[in-house]
Amino acid sequence: MTPGVRPLVAGNWKMNGLSANLSEVKAMREAVDAGKAGEAELAVCPPATLLAQAAWALRGGKLSLGAQDCHAKESGAYTGDIAAPMLKDAGAAYVIVGHSERRQYHSETDEQVKAKAEAALKAGLTAIVCVGETRAEREAGKAIEVVSRQIRGSLPAAGAFETVVVAYEPVWAIGTGLTPTAADVAEVHAVIRKLLGELYGAAGAKLRILYGGSVKPANAKELLGLDNVDGALVGGASLKAVDFLAIAATYA
Ligand code: 13P
Repeated sequence: MTPGVRPLVAGNWKMNGLSANLSEVKAMREAVDAGKAGEAELAVCPPATLLAQAAWALRGGKLSLGAQDCHAKESGAYTGDIAAPMLKDAGAAYVIVGHSERRQYHSETDEQVKAKAEAALKAGLTAIVCVGETRAEREAGKAIEVVSRQIRGSLPAAGAFETVVVAYEPVWAIGTGLTPTAADVAEVHAVIRKLLGELYGAAGAKLRILYGGSVKPANAKELLGLDNVDGALVGGASLKAVDFLAIAATYA
């Protein structure tokens, strides 16, 4: 935790969810609006196909909506892509950029992630910029070097960077049930905090740094209680309201 910073617990549904699953979003919303979801801000990032319906289900409430990716351009001939202003128009407040699955399966570079983050800010969205080392990089003792390079290369240099969120997601911890030790998480988050200060000055001290990778109700308390861990980016455990809310309850 960082004093004076409201944590964020964001759910990344990845390529999961049909209209029927909006019942989970509605259950999350009910808990948040009833004041039963703790002190953190909560956001859910369903697939793009559900954004408009989710926005309708969340209208007037306190559960935030996010998307999972955006294009760096505002519009144009990019078949199949979605621009940041379109996400804003559909009701999103957040967009995840540079998730390791996009870096891995779509060969996204730091430069492209940075352009997407800047496009997100320009559209009035908060960018959740993801970084994290692979297992081979961790085993080679290069985790800090890799994450530092990603932070320097992927974070926006222009726009309202006061709203930027960083998510540290070790690739080998995603969907595996494995998590780094508390000491390893704290070490990486401290390095990210220092780099945010170098990039953004005093504002860097207040930006939220989320941890992601196999966050579950059972391990949330330990991970989210660490210095400079200002919330979580949750994959699998965000698909069910009961699990997601149990993680959020860490901040009760
Ligand atoms: P899991 O919580 O399923 O490990 O996924 C983490 C993640 O990639 C969130 O963006």
